[in-house]
Amino acid sequence: MSRTPTAADRFSFGLWTIGYPGADPFGGPTRSPLDPRHAVEKLAELGAHGLTFHDDDLFPFDATDAERRGAIDRLKQALSDTGIAVPMITTNLFSAPVFKDGGFTSNDRAVRRFALRKVLRNLDLAAELGARTFVMWGGREGAEYDSAKDVRQALERYREAVDLLTGYVVDQGYELRFALEPKPNEPRGDLLLPTLGHALAFIDTLDRPELVGINPEVGHEQMAGLNYAAGIAQALYHGKLFHLDLNGQRGIKYDQDLAFGHGDLHNAFALVDLLEHGGPGGGPAYDGPRHFDFKPSRTEDEAGVWDAVRANMANYLLLKERAEAFRADPEVREALAEARVPELARPTLAEGEGCADLLADRSAYEEFDAASYFDGRGSGFVRLQQLATEHLMGARG
Ligand code: GCO
Ligand code: MN
Ligand code: MN
Repeated sequence: MSRTPTAADRFSFGLWTIGYPGADPFGGPTRSPLDPRHAVEKLAELGAHGLTFHDDDLFPFDATDAERRGAIDRLKQALSDTGIAVPMITTNLFSAPVFKDGGFTSNDRAVRRFALRKVLRNLDLAAELGARTFVMWGGREGAEYDSAKDVRQALERYREAVDLLTGYVVDQGYELRFALEPKPNEPRGDLLLPTLGHALAFIDTLDRPELVGINPEVGHEQMAGLNYAAGIAQALYHGKLFHLDLNGQRGIKYDQDLAFGHGDLHNAFALVDLLEHGGPGGGPAYDGPRHFDFKPSRTEDEAGVWDAVRANMANYLLLKERAEAFRADPEVREALAEARVPELARPTLAEGEGCADLLADRSAYEEFDAASYFDGRGSGFVRLQQLATEHLMGARG
């Protein structure tokens, strides 16, 4: 397997990630703005496949129509010169002061109507650029104070917004699907749809749930103390993994946006193993873009930005290689069988078996020796985890 990224790996980067100038709540930028054309050329040179962006990453919030068109046309030229694709775009409903209390769920109805217009306009741009996924991260959809936001009404307005937008996409005949991005907090004290589980439940309330999935981010689930790889497995189970944001996070704190693999490496290994080997017959379980949403640290210069881009892709490919060796190792197969992992795929009931049959099966209960589990055979999960760890560290195969 090659460790050199190519377009076939489907790696994509947000313009706001490589273009992050290093500003944080405690200090201004440490780097100059990045020209989008230069960004596209560098991504192509480094083996990426795609660029993603918010409207406001490409042209200012208050750009005139002519400025907006000029920026779009310049980007399109760079894309056609390099072969870089735009698999996903998104709308910024969080930076401008007008969105201080949210976009779709601001208490101020005029702001909600303005937010919808901003997104509708950006859906046209998504279609123009051939994007297949439209991400919606509700960075300001939330509150700091419980009495300041009626959460049930906010969810109603969120639903109203998403229903309007999916209806528009259908009416226009656009081949676009939506991916909601959960986050527990930051910048608001509490955000709506804080975890992927909340988002999955919300999608069930929509008019066109088939057009709406999720875009879970590594760091966002980990900020809530959750297991990202396990969450991705559930998203796949529901057929809702439309997109994903890869990065690194070290524990429950602010959104660190480290490079992928620079956070919880065990979970990153489990994730890549799942994405690449969790599908039918041990093949890939997900065929969408491998999208990185990270921030090159403000300590870095421009060379450091490209080092970070390389690091994201290299770590993904290294983990893919390690996961392949893990899956091919006969000792791992034996340990998996010993740990009864494949047995979980066997239905608990026999074909056609119902409650009456189960109640009549004395071996299931009356004759079952539950006491033998005390001092009984161990599960072998630790041995399995150690094999995974040794593969992850390159100590085997
Ligand atoms: C964040 C989010 C954003 C979104 C982006 C795309 O924590 O700032 O992860 O980077 O992913 O707005 O919608
Ligand atoms: Mn984030
Ligand atoms: Mn993100």
